[in-house]
Amino acid sequence: MRKVAVIVATLAASVVVSLLIVKRDVLPYAPQQPILFSHKAHAGDNQIPCLYCHSYATKSPVAGVQSVQKCMGCHTIITGTTKDTINGSTYQEEIKKLRDYWERKEPIPWIRVHKLPEHAHFNHKRHILYKKDEIKCQTCHGEVEKMDVVERVSSLQMGWCITCHKEKEASRDCLTCHH
Ligand code: HEC
Ligand code: HEC
Ligand code: HEC
Ligand code: HEC
Ligand code: HEC
Repeated sequence: MRKVAVIVATLAASVVVSLLIVKRDVLPYAPQQPILFSHKAHAGDNQIPCLYCHSYATKSPVAGVQSVQKCMGCHTIITGTTKDTINGSTYQEEIKKLRDYWERKEPIPWIRVHKLPEHAHFNHKRHILYKKDEIKCQTCHGEVEKMDVVERVSSLQMGWCITCHKEKEASRDCLTCHH
């Protein structure tokens, strides 16, 4: 019981903080990335599987984003066309940015699109492996393979999690998501 009381108190404090600092952004939320990486070009047009790049999604709580080395597995050879463009920039110009990061041995500073507050915990593995693949990436992230720029289409608010947990009879115990 004491543990629950502590959690409730901690959460109450964090609500005040979050109300002060986080302006609930309007959906869809799609920040500008350092390279105009298109999921449509990769997962859509070229049908590269989600898990090829986000390979930790079924193995760990985090889905992970591709290291530059993995990109270069293809982009040492693929330099891109000057005919195809993304938001006014050519594929070739965007791939050049990738190759520059690689040459400078720098990680690409991708901006997180989906991020829960510190007090809430999510676990990809449990969702992806549930009844083989009843829950798809698209259930929560939308049709990413059609997006040039990833946008967040779900609120990620507690009510959103709970609605599905109720429907699928998954745990709604506070300590499942807050600990
Ligand atoms: C399995 C091969 C493969 C991998 C891995 C891969 N790409 Fe690509 N990429 C392609 C192909 C194919 C194209 C389309 C080229 C064209 O049509 O000119 C492309 C196009 C691009 C483009 C231009 C279109 C766009 O998205 O703006 C960029 C930038 C790019 N890739 C970045 C990356 C980055 C960053 C990574 C690593 C996170 C990566 N690629 C991993 C195959 C790959
Ligand atoms: C070629 C590699 C590649 C493939 C294939 C790929 N992704 Fe990604 N994904 C990335 C990279 C790089 C980023 C970070 C840049 C960005 O947000 O666009 C990313 C970002 C994301 C994000 C946003 C992460 C955040 O910051 O919250 C989601 C969600 C996502 N991918 C889902 C998917 C899904 C679903 C598929 C399959 C339909 C997929 N990805 C296929 C490389 C890939
Ligand atoms: C049940 C909903 C749900 C499903 C299904 C889901 N995600 Fe996520 N995803 C989330 C949430 C919530 C976050 C934010 C997690 C956080 O901040 O701790 C997230 C974050 C991410 C991120 C960025 C942060 C990270 O963990 O690396 C990527 C990339 C991502 N998801 C890709 C995928 C891919 C690929 C799939 C399918 C294999 C998938 N997701 C399936 C809800 C989901
Ligand atoms: C299925 C996961 C899940 C369960 C179960 C859950 N929560 Fe949450 N909760 C979240 C997520 C995700 C957030 C952060 C997003 C938000 O603020 O809505 C959150 C946020 C909160 C907040 C802060 C609200 C805000 O506006 O910042 C409080 C307080 C809270 N939860 C209390 C509880 C209590 C008490 C229980 C048990 C009755 C509970 N939660 C059960 C996922 C869950
Ligand atoms: C589309 C439906 C869906 C959504 C949305 C969803 N979940 Fe779940 N979640 C499930 C199901 C189903 C399970 C049970 C998986 C199992 O039994 O293996 C689960 C399990 C979990 C678990 C593991 C529970 C345990 O017993 O260890 C956590 C943690 C969790 N969810 C957190 C969240 C949070 C946080 C959110 C919102 C950000 C969320 N979920 C949104 C369907 C969903």
